[in-house]
Amino acid sequence: MALERTLAIIKPDAIQKGVIGEIIQKMEEANLKPIGIKMLHLDHARAEAFYAVHKEKAFFADLVNFMASGPIIVLCLEGENGVAKWRVTMGATNPDQAADGSLRKDYGSDVQCNAVHGSDGPDTAQFEINFFFEQNDLYAYEWV
Ligand code: CMP
Repeated sequence: MALERTLAIIKPDAIQKGVIGEIIQKMEEANLKPIGIKMLHLDHARAEAFYAVHKEKAFFADLVNFMASGPIIVLCLEGENGVAKWRVTMGATNPDQAADGSLRKDYGSDVQCNAVHGSDGPDTAQFEINFFFEQNDLYAYEWV
C-alpha cells in the first residue's frame, strides 16, 4: 500500500477540552505523520465552504456555527493507507457508537461536537488538504 495523505481537524470542542496533545500523540502512534499543521479560526463563510457537501442536511447551520465557534487545528497526515487509518483512529461519527479507545469515544461529546474530522476518501482528502494548505506548507521528513 502506498503512502496516502488525509486531512484531519481538531475541532473547537477538543481544543476547549485541552486534549490537543493527546490527539496528536494518537496520530503518531498510528504511524500517521503530521506533515502540515495550522491553527486557525474559521468564519461562517469558510466553514460553509468546507462543509458544502452537507449544505442540504438539517444539521448544516448548527455544524457551521459550531465549527466557527472557536479555533481549530488542521493537519495534513501522511501514512500507509492514511485515509482509512485515520478514520479508524477517530472512530464512528457519533461518540456513543465509536469503538473503545477511539478519539471520538474518548473526547467527543455528541454527534456534532465529536472532537475530530477526517476525510472520507482519497478524492475528498485532496480537496480538503488543498482547502487549507499550499504546497509549500507541507514538509517531508523521516522518522528515525
Ligand atoms: P465530520 O466527520 O466533521 O463530518 C460532518 C460533521 O457534521 C460531523 O463530523 C459532525 O460534526 C456533524 N454531524 C454529522 N451528523 C450529524 C448529526 N446527525 N447531527 C449533528 N451534526 C452532525
